[in-house]
Amino acid sequence: MDKFLIRGGRRLSGTVAISGAKNATLALMPAALLAGGVFRLRNTPVLRDVNTMSSLLKTMGMKIELEDDQLTLDTAGVDKHEAPYEYVKKMRASIYVLGPLIARFGRAKVSLPGGCAWGPRPVNLHMEGLKKLGAQIDLKGGYIIAQAKRLTGARIHFDISSVGATGNVMMAAVLAKGHTVIQNAAIEPEITALAHFLVAMGARIQGIGTNRIEIEGVDELHAADADTIPDRIEAGTFLVAAAITGGRVRLESANPDHLTAIITKLEEAGCTINTGPSWVSLETPQTLKAVDVTAAIYPGFPTDMQAQWTALMAVAQGTSIVTDSIYLDRFKHVPELIRLGADIDLKENAAVVRGSSKLTGAKVMSTDLRASASLILAGLVAEGTTEVLRVYHIDRGYEAIEKKLQAMGADIERVAGEEF
Ligand code: EPZ
Repeated sequence: MDKFLIRGGRRLSGTVAISGAKNATLALMPAALLAGGVFRLRNTPVLRDVNTMSSLLKTMGMKIELEDDQLTLDTAGVDKHEAPYEYVKKMRASIYVLGPLIARFGRAKVSLPGGCAWGPRPVNLHMEGLKKLGAQIDLKGGYIIAQAKRLTGARIHFDISSVGATGNVMMAAVLAKGHTVIQNAAIEPEITALAHFLVAMGARIQGIGTNRIEIEGVDELHAADADTIPDRIEAGTFLVAAAITGGRVRLESANPDHLTAIITKLEEAGCTINTGPSWVSLETPQTLKAVDVTAAIYPGFPTDMQAQWTALMAVAQGTSIVTDSIYLDRFKHVPELIRLGADIDLKENAAVVRGSSKLTGAKVMSTDLRASASLILAGLVAEGTTEVLRVYHIDRGYEAIEKKLQAMGADIERVAGEEF
């Protein structure tokens, strides 16, 4: 397993091209199961998770090729309707095949997702929504066994906003017979992108981008192409990379409209931020101010940026409280940040961060994707060398992160190899 060696203390400065959004790609790929034909997804990021989704869909008979950033999916040969445990335990987003398989083929066998670095991360809302659409859902041997003659439209109300459940139910309802209303739907940009893709495939959807989505089912959909939206979490991570090192950055191919909560908090911390249609630039003040954050559903501050913000607050002036209202225990990064010298107390689902610690390099362990990002960010500012182990976690969701950081002047190298 690879590790990163980071020698901290350099101010980052430079330009970064933001890649396509992981969490949009992981929804658009299984959506192709809904129709026969050839789909082209442009601006697809090269990520472990995209490879995992490709491998899963290939076991179902889909032909998939990635050339540069264009992913071509040929779904003519899809003839299997199962997502085995081996895939789902590696990547929870595998569950996105459930809705399309039931809608198009009338049956699906999908493993329940295993544990996560934090959680629990149940899928009850996915199953309840699909049952409302008329699917027969049984749990057997750790698998969701689903079948349906023809799904029928329904009124579905999610008692909590769920990105995955909204995506799965939307992908099922577009081929259901009749009218579906989804209330308290997630409005994350990745769900909006999925809805636009489904419309391009011939689906009839109203209320896109709002938390009330109406769908008129159709009998058949057709292949379509899409340009994947930029990854707002990668963008936020690089803004914090510049801020934590007292540097500056210009993000290209970004979408500032998806970053308003992150930009607002960075400005409150004293950063100067300018934006254009597809770029964001940041300059850092002499000292960063401590700023409280509560991770919440979109357009609130993303939970996928909570760990990165905690690392930033460790070197800010003053005390801040970083709360996660989505995942109450998504704090595996805190003990590792403390090993780098951060002064943080965990109080239930909040980290109390006493800032302006002097961080010093150490060997730290990645536990999950965004925790790894926060350890890299801390390593960029820690004195001496930080070794971040098990960077396969980071490769799940960031395309060539060390190369993009090197281009900004970071002293970071990937060391391939043995068990660490
Ligand atoms: C998506 O996960 C993202 N993953 C996550 O990003 C992100 O953290 C999360 O949304 C929240 O924004 C992808 O898009 C592939 P949810 P998802 O359903 O869909 C509870 C990353 O780092 N819930 O919106 O699984 C759940 O426990 C990843 O890129 C239920 O109770 O998240 C959580 O508390 C990590 N029952 C809340 O809803 C359900 O059936 C929000 O989860 C489903 C969810």
